[in-house]
Amino acid sequence: MFPRIRLRRLRRTPLIRDMVRETTLTKKDLIYPMFIIEGKTQAIASMPGIFRLSINDAIEEVKEIVELGIPAIILFGIPKKKDKLATQAYAKEGIIQRAVRAIKDEVGDNLVVITDVCLCEYMDHGHCGIVKGNEILNDPTLELLAKTAVSHAEAGADIVAPSDMMDGRVKAIREALDEEGFENVAIMSYSAKYASSFYSPFREAADSAPAFGDRKSYQMDIGNAEEALREVALDIEEGADIVMVKPALAYLDVIYRIKKTFGMPTAAYNVSGEYAMIKAAAERNLIDEKAIVYETLLSIKRAGADLILTYFAKEVAGWI
Ligand code: PBG
Repeated sequence: MFPRIRLRRLRRTPLIRDMVRETTLTKKDLIYPMFIIEGKTQAIASMPGIFRLSINDAIEEVKEIVELGIPAIILFGIPKKKDKLATQAYAKEGIIQRAVRAIKDEVGDNLVVITDVCLCEYMDHGHCGIVKGNEILNDPTLELLAKTAVSHAEAGADIVAPSDMMDGRVKAIREALDEEGFENVAIMSYSAKYASSFYSPFREAADSAPAFGDRKSYQMDIGNAEEALREVALDIEEGADIVMVKPALAYLDVIYRIKKTFGMPTAAYNVSGEYAMIKAAAERNLIDEKAIVYETLLSIKRAGADLILTYFAKEVAGWI
């Protein structure tokens, strides 16, 4: 008891504080999301510093990413042509398939290439599954997701990351990958993905806003945490290698519970809205961007995440 115990003793100097810091952020924690567009590179108004990159520009960027020491990227495709069966999601010459081949040619095993497996960017209606009337069909969608994942693996992806929230998709993808001889391609599942309002800048970036309705019949209700545990348990049973919580900041409790309960490699997605808010406040000089970003990412790690998908990855890697 005080005065014998004084916790301030270990806060006295920067070195002592460093020695007893429980959580640290390292480059190896970071995954950098990239948008690849068919055509010329374009800026994204709501996400300063992030671009929709042509394949050529993406190759320049991955060289920089390897140099910075960031271990992984996750790719999102923006195709020229969208339709009702998302055919460009699994086309051999689709934007992601071409991008993965080109990037892997350049970097080999010096960079882990993860691909987002979803159909919303490739569907003319912007939903993550096949639509019938106003319904998003679950089971018929699984086949397209599995095809998409296999086509990414064929192109050279190391990890596929289903973000659609259809039931049973991890199993469908695992089986399809194994059948095609890709038993060593891992699955990072967006297990607890919420129907969040924090995705709106992404939907501008990926041109994937739903043309009608919303995603609440497949993405999780924002009030639920117990259900997140059930989602994760099922994904692990179905063969997920890494589980993910998305978004990150408003769901730190969910990250904490999932890491504690399952002890799985756990990722958290620091999403577009979280990025845009910090950038907007920093542009107005309302906050110290560097300090806020560091504190934010550290909180996500402290909650239990092993990996953080973040648009800040390049900036942060430059500081560490
Ligand atoms: C695709 C997908 C989305 C995000 C990642 N994959 C958008 C959505 O579900 O509407 C969001 C990422 C972000 O906001 O940064 N389904």
